[in-house]
Amino acid sequence: MSAFTKELLKGQSALVTGSSSGIGKAVAKALAAAGAQVAINYIGNEKEAAKVVEEIQREGGSSFPVRADISKEEEVQNMFQQIIQRFGTLDILVNNAGLQQDAFLVDMTLEQWNKVIGVNLTGQFLCSREAVREFLRRGLVPERSSALGKIICISSVHDIIPWSKHINYAASKGGVLLLMKSMSQELAPKKIRVNAVSPGAIKTGINREAWDTKEAETKLLELIPYKRVGEVEDIGKAVVWLASDESDYVNGVTMYVDGGMTCYPGFADNG
Ligand code: BGC
Repeated sequence: MSAFTKELLKGQSALVTGSSSGIGKAVAKALAAAGAQVAINYIGNEKEAAKVVEEIQREGGSSFPVRADISKEEEVQNMFQQIIQRFGTLDILVNNAGLQQDAFLVDMTLEQWNKVIGVNLTGQFLCSREAVREFLRRGLVPERSSALGKIICISSVHDIIPWSKHINYAASKGGVLLLMKSMSQELAPKKIRVNAVSPGAIKTGINREAWDTKEAETKLLELIPYKRVGEVEDIGKAVVWLASDESDYVNGVTMYVDGGMTCYPGFADNG
């Protein structure tokens, strides 16, 4: 059960990229539970996206699925047209879609590099640009929110923790960190709030082998001072708060939702 009520984001519309599964799905459901209507972006998994929409509708929410490869300019623009047609405007963008294609530097192909940068970083740029164009076109609606619009970038603890064998991923998330802060600096005077949530180890398909056996989980917990692996709902709650006026004075901030992973637990008793 969430402590947020349907009043919190009432009348607002949101887009969550990559929300047919994992963290994106939980974020979409949390925003809907807080009263927002939510567009469910997906790329390959139409059935799963339809299920998320159904789950939201069953709870009395409003939602629809929209397919787009967020690394492609035309597809992003087309997606925004569909959303604006359907919802009238957009108030909240959650830049969530992301992927990993792991390899050591010496083995990494240019394709693997470009794919990860394309979705995780360029995708956030393309979606943010379209969202901001819409926020500016629509103007402020004070009875809905004291901000013109809100962008929440889903990053990772690997925007500051280096990650061998994942240089494309870590570079993309490091990029998101300053994309987010620079957008915030540029857009705050226009009353647009841009922030990030950086998850640590959260139980999803992307890192299944890191938590789905007892041995793997024990090893993973060495990296987490709070001694539990995160759940997707942990991220949903943080995003809802950042999307709401409850965080109105929060701009250009990265919220690490990681059980303390970024506190370098390896240094707890030596170093
Ligand atoms: C990665 C996961 C990893 C976690 C903590 C996330 O950004 O996608 O695979 O478990 O960071 O290292």
